[in-house]
Parts: sequence; C-alpha cells; structure tokens
Amino acid sequence: MTAAEQPATAAGQTPAVVDISTVDISTLAATARLAQTLAQQASWLRGKVVYLYGDLGAGKTTLVRFLLQALGETGKVKSPTYGLMECYQPANCPQPGMKILHLDLYRLQDPEELEYLGLRDLLDADTLLLVEWPQRGAGVLPAPDATIRLSQAADQRSAEIHPQALAAAASART
Ligand SMILES: Nc1ncnc2c1ncn2[C@@H]1O[C@H](COP(=O)(O)OP(=O)(O)OP(=O)(O)O)[C@@H](O)[C@H]1O
Ligand SMILES: [Mg+2]
Repeated sequence: MTAAEQPATAAGQTPAVVDISTVDISTLAATARLAQTLAQQASWLRGKVVYLYGDLGAGKTTLVRFLLQALGETGKVKSPTYGLMECYQPANCPQPGMKILHLDLYRLQDPEELEYLGLRDLLDADTLLLVEWPQRGAGVLPAPDATIRLSQAADQRSAEIHPQALAAAASART
C-alpha cells in the first residue's frame, strides 16, 4: 500500500468524522480524504461555526479547498487572506441554499473590524462558517460548534478534531 492509499486515521481505521481525534494528513491525498469525510457531515455542518487553528502553512486553506470541492465547488478556491472572506454555494450540498463562508482573520487588526464585514448579517441557518485564525476575532466571532487544529512537524501533518456538538449530532442519528 502506498502512503497515498493509507487510511486517513492515525489508528489505521476507516475514517469516521465523529470518532476522529487525531488524523494523519501528511499527504494531500490524506487531506482530501478527511475533507470527503467532513463533506459527508454537510447536513449537520449547515448553520454551524468551525474554527480552524494552525500555524502559517499548516494546511487550513487546503482542507477548506478540498471540502468545497468535495461538495461540488468547481470555481477557484483562493485563500481569503487579503479579502478576509469568500462565500461559496457548492452545487452538491445536501440542502439547496446551503452556503459556505470562508474567513481568514490573519490580517485582522481588531476583532471589531468584523462588524464592518457585515458578518452578523451573513450568518444564518443555511451558512457554514469556516474560520482560519479565529483567535484574531476573539470576542466578536460566534462560538465554535467544532474546532480543527492542524499541525506540522518535519514531514508529518496532522489534524486534531474536536467535534463537540458534531459528535452529539451524529449520536442522535444512530
Ligand atoms: N496535507 C498536505 N500535504 C502536503 N502539502 C500540504 C498539505 N496541506 C497543505 N499543504 C501545502 O502547504 C502549503 C500551505 O497550505 P495552506 O495554504 O493550506 O496553509 P494555511 O494553514 O492555510 O496557511 P495560512 O495560515 O498562511 O493561511 C500549500 O503549498 C499546500 O499545498
Ligand atoms: Mg490559509
């Protein structure tokens, strides 16, 4: 089995987003598989807030890009580092009208600037909010429903997922 074919969990088990704590994403293919797994949770993710932590270059935008593509986005998914925000309506979301708002707050000088972006008006029950550098929006951003912490050391990359309510939603379904 090549590295690219390895299952996306550290324990070598079939990925299941509700059970994941730490996922090995040392290859782009592994990140793509994690994104696929998250995309399968899109019904639950609608209307939720997910914080993406991780140093510069840890792979936050890459995960968002794969997630959007897994949901059918065919346009360019660029990093919102300069514009702060990008909005998508991918074709294959489970519910029509679902939107995905991708924020990168790295360049935010003050959390109050989020008010100028009109974030409050953009958030509704149809919108999944994915936030890179959420610590820069502390006090103004809505609280997270889930957090994903990406880290990188040498050739190893990993994603630590804190599903919080994600786990609760999934167990309610079983
Ligand atoms: N799993 C991976 N395997 C190999 N390379 C990766 C992986 N994830 C991301 N990369 C590469 O790392 C680089 C940085 O990725 P990315 O832009 O997603 O990081 P980021 O966390 O969003 O950074 P920033 O904080 O600057 O926004 C890109 O060149 C990307 O292709
Ligand atoms: Mg980024």
